[in-house]
Amino acid sequence: MGVEYVDLYLIHWPAIKAGGAKINADTWRAFEKLYKDGCIRTIGLSNFLTHHIEALLDTAEIIPAVNQIEFHPGYMQADTLAFCKAHHIVVEAWSPLGTGRLLNNPQLREIAGRYGISVAQLCIRWCLQNETLPLPKSVTPKRILENADVFGFTISDTDMQTINSLPYIGGSGLHPDKIDF
Ligand SMILES: NC(=O)c1ccc[n+]([C@@H]2O[C@H](COP(=O)([O-])OP(=O)(O)OC[C@H]3O[C@@H](n4cnc5c(N)ncnc54)[C@H](OP(=O)(O)O)[C@@H]3O)[C@@H](O)[C@H]2O)c1
Repeated sequence: MGVEYVDLYLIHWPAIKAGGAKINADTWRAFEKLYKDGCIRTIGLSNFLTHHIEALLDTAEIIPAVNQIEFHPGYMQADTLAFCKAHHIVVEAWSPLGTGRLLNNPQLREIAGRYGISVAQLCIRWCLQNETLPLPKSVTPKRILENADVFGFTISDTDMQTINSLPYIGGSGLHPDKIDF
């Protein structure tokens, strides 16, 4: 790769087929070696649910620093979030805008309108107030700036509760226990 070290390295998805727990444990051991060798500054997971993390912790020497999961209004994976918080694992929120599928949601538009912000900003701020690290993606410079401009307002507790309670919307449909790899 032509670099002296990598900042953050994740297991992208848990192995779930027969022997998956051993594959995850072996992969994590290899990650721990790379970390100890100084090749990687931080090691973590992605798309691991609570039971995948619990199995990994049976043999892990180093607690994962990060778990990157799908996280947005309408799919906040509250169990996994609570487990990660309890173990001081930072949750990174992938598709915080539901890959754009949430941007025309009437309820989110109504809430965002009251704050004078965009739905994208509402989703990103909602991730932050849930103590996750949102990873919005845009190739549009104006939107990149807009998505970073989320520190001049606070979503009220009532609105947080409303958004936290939304039914399943905007999801990718990908589930770590059902993926075919
Ligand atoms: N770990 C995993 O398994 C996993 C899985 C999926 C994704 N990810 C990561 O998560 C990140 C984000 O995911 P994502 O791209 O699926 O979804 P996203 O960030 O929720 O949504 C991106 C879409 O929203 C649009 N957008 C961004 N900001 C906007 C704004 N302010 N107003 C209107 N539209 C806006 C983008 O359009 P333009 O780009 O055209 O502006 C793009 O179409 C990516 O970096 C990806 O690598 C990780």
